[in-house]
Amino acid sequence: MDIAATPNTPPKGTAPSRPATLPGDRRGKDNIGRMIRVDQAGELGAAEIYRGQLAVLKNQPCADLLKKMAEQEQVHLATFDEMVVERGVRPSALSPLWRAAGFALGAGSALLGERAAMATTVAVEEVIEDHYQRQLDALAPELNEESAGENAELQAVIAEFREDELKHRDLALENGAEEAPAYQILSQSVKAGTRLAIWLAERI
Ligand SMILES: [Fe+2]
Ligand SMILES: [Fe+2]
Repeated sequence: MDIAATPNTPPKGTAPSRPATLPGDRRGKDNIGRMIRVDQAGELGAAEIYRGQLAVLKNQPCADLLKKMAEQEQVHLATFDEMVVERGVRPSALSPLWRAAGFALGAGSALLGERAAMATTVAVEEVIEDHYQRQLDALAPELNEESAGENAELQAVIAEFREDELKHRDLALENGAEEAPAYQILSQSVKAGTRLAIWLAERI
């Protein structure tokens, strides 16, 4: 296949459900607002996942690791909270759902054991990392337009957070994620749920 002819072809192994942009996708301010909305919702969900996991696993050896990752998610969330206010973005109307679903996923996976909690982290972080990469791809052309400065700030934030999410994934892998019972089923279910949440939070 001619790679140059398919610029949206993702790196091997990321298994996208769609390319970063499609003809007819929103551009400009609408698009940026949508990005910030879904990112704020996602970081809210992520913060709640770790809070749920910690509620169950607070006395286990992995608690320190969970706390460290939870603290970073709080920084991510606070950053998008600020951007939502500064740029007048409408937050996701489903925020209460992301909060509840995140906590339930965190606590539920932790009840299955530390490894299941780690497997959940790997699945969520892989989807989020891929989502952030798509946003970076979509932002590249926006940087040439009028609000290039603001968009460059968003781009830098997303790039930094994406690196953090990759570290979270790697830490979870180092801590036995793949040894979780029914790893593939758990992983695929969490990924499907996370992708659906992203799709909804972009729109609602
Ligand atoms: Fe995050
Ligand atoms: Fe994360």
